[in-house]
Amino acid sequence: MKKIESLYLHFPFCKHLCNYCDFFKKVPQNREQDLAGFHLYLEQAFVEHQKLIEKYGYSWAPLKTLYIGGGTPSLWGKEGKIFLESFLHRHQIILDKQCEFTLEVNPGSWTPEILKDWEELGVNRYSLGIQSLRPEFIKNLDRVHSIEDVYETLEYFKSQKANFSVDFMLGLPFSNENKRDVIAELNLALAYKPNHFSVYILTVKNNYTHFHQLPSEEWIEDEYLKVAQHLLSRGYSHYEVSNFSLIGKESKHNLNYWNSLTVAALGPSATGFLAEDKTRYKWKPHSPVLELETLSDTEFNLEKIYMSLRSREGLDLKILSSSSDLIDLFVNRWIQSGYATLENDKKIILTSKGFLILDSLMDEFFRLKLI
Ligand SMILES: C[S@@+](CC[C@H](N)C(=O)[O-])C[C@H]1O[C@@H](n2cnc3c(N)ncnc32)[C@H](O)[C@@H]1O
Ligand code: SF4
Repeated sequence: MKKIESLYLHFPFCKHLCNYCDFFKKVPQNREQDLAGFHLYLEQAFVEHQKLIEKYGYSWAPLKTLYIGGGTPSLWGKEGKIFLESFLHRHQIILDKQCEFTLEVNPGSWTPEILKDWEELGVNRYSLGIQSLRPEFIKNLDRVHSIEDVYETLEYFKSQKANFSVDFMLGLPFSNENKRDVIAELNLALAYKPNHFSVYILTVKNNYTHFHQLPSEEWIEDEYLKVAQHLLSRGYSHYEVSNFSLIGKESKHNLNYWNSLTVAALGPSATGFLAEDKTRYKWKPHSPVLELETLSDTEFNLEKIYMSLRSREGLDLKILSSSSDLIDLFVNRWIQSGYATLENDKKIILTSKGFLILDSLMDEFFRLKLI
């Protein structure tokens, strides 16, 4: 029997809709009614999901990872904890003793009581959306919280010795004009000893409010490499394109995606993957209906190559089908340019500089027909 050991839950509500954000989310109009609607969605989605996994021969095993992402899951509150406890119990989904259970938290959208409730259910990891530690950037980014809210959360996590990750963003509007010093901001965050950093480059459409105030590509590349070098010097491993962790504190949940493993998903616009059947599914936002996509062997292999290059897992050269001379030529060029290192003569692992140009390296793969 094929097993499901990881689950992603998408909580779609936020206090305010940040103008750069492309995730599916909404502001609740009537909290009670909106939560009731969301809970009903999850119940109905679960029934559909059971049909799907039974058809493909999967069953639930004790969960090794559970991730509640958003939106702003810390707004789910006590009602969320009570609902999810009963939901898991009724559907006989249990958490493994070692389950990594992550809750995304927004500054200003939580209370100690709410987090204690979630910890009773098993939450043992938080992911905190900071983006920047300079008030003017937070404001320009259209964030609804204040810098004081950010520090209050960091202080709380530090006082609780919590296992937490922080999200930062690079390439923010007005970076050049306001002379953003991202290393100074990282140092402020490092004082709170997060176990993990996620660092994303802001991606927006060309109708974005501050599109013309975005920094140049050179600026962004410089920020990215400086951040990577700085976090490395502070003991964090650059273990995925956008992720850094202290040893043993990698996101186990996200490693499943990067290792192309099975992850179930429930919630409006959440995406799950049944790896053994190369089948991806996506939930429709407004009704608990699934859209399925089954990858061909070639598509799955390509995805595996891309995903393995994204993380420090690296790419096993054995799975490439072209001639070994061509592969050597190409691997040597990457190594000489500082984009990659070779482990045990068989695994290619990208450096921070390589992560930065991952997409063009993938293009090179195609051009040289290495796959
Ligand atoms: C799924 S979001 C939700 C987290 C939370 N609601 C928040 O805003 O802090 C997770 C992270 O994605 C990143 N993100 C959101 N929109 C982005 C964008 N347009 N480009 C790059 N990163 C983005 C942010 O760093 C954010 O913390
Ligand atoms: S709080 Fe997070 S999920 Fe919500 S709108 Fe802002 S960036 Fe998007």
